[in-house]
Amino acid sequence: MSMTFSGQVALVTGAAAGIGRATALAFAEQGLKVVAVDLDAEGGEGTAELIRHAGGEALFLRCDVTREGDVQQMMVNAVEAYGRVDYAFNNAGIEIEKGRLAEGSEAEFDAIMGVNVKGVWLCMKYQLPVMLAQGGGAIVNTASVAGLGAAPKMSIYAASKHAVIGLTKSAAIEYAKKQIRVNAVCPAVIDTDMFRRAHEADPRKAEFAATMHPVGRIGKVEEIAAAVLYLCSDGAAFTTGHSLAVDGGVTAF
Ligand SMILES: NC(=O)c1ccc[n+]([C@@H]2O[C@H](COP(=O)([O-])OP(=O)(O)OC[C@H]3O[C@@H](n4cnc5c(N)ncnc54)[C@H](O)[C@@H]3O)[C@@H](O)[C@H]2O)c1
Repeated sequence: MSMTFSGQVALVTGAAAGIGRATALAFAEQGLKVVAVDLDAEGGEGTAELIRHAGGEALFLRCDVTREGDVQQMMVNAVEAYGRVDYAFNNAGIEIEKGRLAEGSEAEFDAIMGVNVKGVWLCMKYQLPVMLAQGGGAIVNTASVAGLGAAPKMSIYAASKHAVIGLTKSAAIEYAKKQIRVNAVCPAVIDTDMFRRAHEADPRKAEFAATMHPVGRIGKVEEIAAAVLYLCSDGAAFTTGHSLAVDGGVTAF
């Protein structure tokens, strides 16, 4: 089944790498213009270049999603370039903890909450008026299976992803009658730089990560991209406020 999109422009944050890059490429494959947003200019420009090289249309915008001025200007520039933003995938996120709750630092708390929660909130704050003005749109935020349940030794991260789901559900209700849908995607462990950084020191942990998924492996970035595109597509017109686990069965336990 091919997906249909009545919109023309997709914006992706955290587009320089991992899940964000794969989703930006997937939107472009469907013929959408892509605004690739990231703090990492080299990687973000690389994603835009990959899309242009494949015959698509893409623009990279450097933006720190924790800074209101950056996010506001990023949305102004996106609309100036392509006239509208039909789909927004708020995906930029970080994970830096390694210990139990009492071992965490205030700096870690502020950094994780800053990108994962404030970043998503700021992006939606400036995307929703654009979507209201153009008559509709769809937003997907990246939560995690750590937004649906406990994540031992990642308590701040888990709290941040539960907050993403809270923002998602509340915005979905607030804008439901305005033709704007807001959903979240909840990946389990996905093979990205984030995963490799976390497991490079101990290969046994990587093996364990595979076995903890009922399907016997970790996920691929393309599998998250497919879920995001579905949630944005016309086929999901009746789906809003949903948190979609894409997790190889992890949350079925
Ligand atoms: N990889 C996994 O196993 C996994 C599992 C569940 C959820 N997630 C979530 O998926 C999302 C993407 O993760 P990934 O695995 O692709 O990670 P990644 O590290 O490969 O990519 C994250 C991107 O976000 C960008 N970024 C970080 N801080 C930013 C900021 N302040 N402003 C703008 N951009 C910023 C980074 O430069 C990077 O390009 C994150 O929200 C993460 O929490 C990942």
